Amino acid sequence: ADGGDLDGTRILVSAGGTRELIDPVRFIGNRSSGKQGVAVAAAAAARGAKVVLLAANIDDSVLAEVATNPAIRVVPVTSAAELETAALAASPGADVVVMAAAVSDYRVANVSTEKIRKEDRGGDAPTLTLVENPDILVALVRERRPGQVLVGFAAETAEDTDELLDRGRRKLHRKGVDLLAVNAVGWSQGFEASDNTLHILGSAGDVVATASGSKRDTADALIDAIADAIDDARE
Ligand code: C5P
Repeated sequence: ADGGDLDGTRILVSAGGTRELIDPVRFIGNRSSGKQGVAVAAAAAARGAKVVLLAANIDDSVLAEVATNPAIRVVPVTSAAELETAALAASPGADVVVMAAAVSDYRVANVSTEKIRKEDRGGDAPTLTLVENPDILVALVRERRPGQVLVGFAAETAEDTDELLDRGRRKLHRKGVDLLAVNAVGWSQGFEASDNTLHILGSAGDVVATASGSKRDTADALIDAIADAIDDARE
């Protein structure tokens, strides 16, 4: 769109969930559908932004919303390591980075080059050894250029909103981001669902907005907060 309030703003968005290989046919993944991050990309483009979308294992039916949008370039990635390489390569050219992807905290230490076969193991169940993945968002904050706005997501299980926001505030400060979008997740909440509630925290830990509705509605609210943060960063 022309004449949007984000005209010409370059936004890097990650979405979806990473997959960590166990062997050539198996992986450790998570339940992120990518819907919220794809909605952020679509909302930003609708307001004039140029978007690079790092898409981690997102179903084509979800990507269809942005596939033909000339303002959105989709870059597929699979593992956390691939996402890290792509994010660090693209971030110097971005005014805003939104890390909406669910990144695996761990990967398998020794990926088996052969399929692990039950019949070869004589009843002995394998043990997976995991190693920690680097925190991409923390690396992006470390390398941020002046005026760049960095946005994280936190999907948390919590007893109530107070606990949810407390966890969010601790994460915000740990990561050093400008904005953190916090949402509750559970068996039937957050992941895969079409509707969402986002609590958007500012850099001081204040709630700058709470938005409920479709993931596009909550994405629009996040883009509003990002537009304000861009203005603040320029002052
Ligand atoms: O620590 P947690 O995974 O809950 O943090 C969530 C935020 O950090 C998200 O924005 C996610 O994309 C980002 N993240 C990351 N690299 C990781 C883990 C999470 O960038 N290894």
